[in-house]
Amino acid sequence: MSRWSDGYIVDIAYLSGWYRQQSPAMLALACLLNGAEVSMPAGDEPVHVLELGCGQGYGALLLAASNPTWRITAVDFNPAHIAAARAWAAEARLDNVVFIEADLATLAEDPAARDIPQADFVSLHGVWTWVSPAVQAGIVRLLRAKVRAGGVVHVSYNVLPSWGPRLGMQRLIHDTGARLADRSDRQVHEGLAFARSLAAAGAQHLDPNGATGQFLEQFAQLPVSYLAHELMNGHWKPCFMSDVASAFADAKLEWVGSSNLIENFPGLTLTEPQIALHQRFDDPLVRELIKDMCIDRALRHDVFVRGVRRMNPAQRDAALMDIDIGLTILPEELPTEAAIPAGKVQLNQSFYRPVVDAMADGPKRVSDLLQLERSQGRKDNPAELLGILVGLAFAEPAVRPASGPGNAAMRFNQVVLRRLLRTENIDRPAGAASLRMGTGLTLTLFDMMVADQVRQGNTDTAQLATAMRLPVDRHDAIDRAKRFRVPVLRAAGIV
Ligand SMILES: C[S@@+](CC[C@H](N)C(=O)[O-])C[C@H]1O[C@@H](n2cnc3c(N)ncnc32)[C@H](O)[C@@H]1O
Repeated sequence: MSRWSDGYIVDIAYLSGWYRQQSPAMLALACLLNGAEVSMPAGDEPVHVLELGCGQGYGALLLAASNPTWRITAVDFNPAHIAAARAWAAEARLDNVVFIEADLATLAEDPAARDIPQADFVSLHGVWTWVSPAVQAGIVRLLRAKVRAGGVVHVSYNVLPSWGPRLGMQRLIHDTGARLADRSDRQVHEGLAFARSLAAAGAQHLDPNGATGQFLEQFAQLPVSYLAHELMNGHWKPCFMSDVASAFADAKLEWVGSSNLIENFPGLTLTEPQIALHQRFDDPLVRELIKDMCIDRALRHDVFVRGVRRMNPAQRDAALMDIDIGLTILPEELPTEAAIPAGKVQLNQSFYRPVVDAMADGPKRVSDLLQLERSQGRKDNPAELLGILVGLAFAEPAVRPASGPGNAAMRFNQVVLRRLLRTENIDRPAGAASLRMGTGLTLTLFDMMVADQVRQGNTDTAQLATAMRLPVDRHDAIDRAKRFRVPVLRAAGIV
């Protein structure tokens, strides 16, 4: 372990990925749904986004490419991460993103922080419960200095009680792996193998039929660079949501909701008896503790605001009506029933089918969707429409609904293909940048390749397969991508 890393692993790079919960438009929507007044990023208005612990910078690069008038500042202390991120930025010719190599434990007091402007949106994805208390304290000091009044902060972290039964598994993998190998990817590999051997030898805590044993098996399938960063850090420590709220209060940050939008709706997250118990409390932090007992998800995506301005329900609904959303599926892919944390929800087809049909060729305003004559159902509930369509990931908020494909977004998407295809599986998901949406859409590298060929005018399947230089015949998959993904990407302005 390097002396400068304070227990965080720095000998292998973290994997590159895009997470929709980090998008400023999603964060603004989470605030509005919870009645907190925040401007939805729109058009060419300047926005400053700060990402802390940015890894190799994929999210920061994608946001910069999707929003050329925004300024993105991204910080990480691992020089290998910063070097990779700067190389991507140079190759995609993105000049609105700055990568700073700095330690979050001390950046607030570092002269380098002077050049960081006050941020409208900050994101810390996968950092908080992986770093030492000293780094957490430095993060809070930085947030106190750099979040503008009214600014929004996203933080994701490993949450208790969900992680409680798995604490022993992590400790076992960490401590055995560290003794069986040297480099952290090998350590996590050895630690996992040892834990599985112990499970096979009948260790009761790792019983393959129990929750921890099943989790161990799921972990064994994940990429090693993810696992090393998840399990091998010296200070990894899941926490309760109220612990984060209490730490962030020192930066005058108040919790408003979740950027996993569905979790803002008790009716979609909890069962009726659970809601009755949940509603006995007014304190949002106690309500969240109850929610964390009811839905067993390991990672929270919380949204905080520095200086919350509360709207009344009419103001909130008016703000929600003004939002544009675009589909991430074909209209015909809308299911009749969808899984939600509370079980299943039926999607009223006579209401939702005309709504998604109207969005087939591009984003539409919520108020227009609710006024569609052929759609039958409640026309006065924009929150429910957004909760179902965006919350269940059938749609995303659209920042520039009328714009064409952006040059920077196209350059970034090509760099993604050039770089990731060298080392990664073609069926791996990645984020594609969109100027129209102002965010990324998640798709496989394979689908991204097909879309890129179609964008260049190459639509014939056999020619496309030749241009993609596929080692095996995947004509059917190309046809599927042309049929199901390309129209969605065209509506999102990516093709
Ligand atoms: C699990 S990774 C998440 C990376 C990125 N946010 C993502 O989701 O892809 C955590 C990141 O925090 C960075 N990090 C850890 N401790 C840090 C510190 N003290 N100062 C700055 N960055 C740090 C690591 O180098 C790593 O890139």
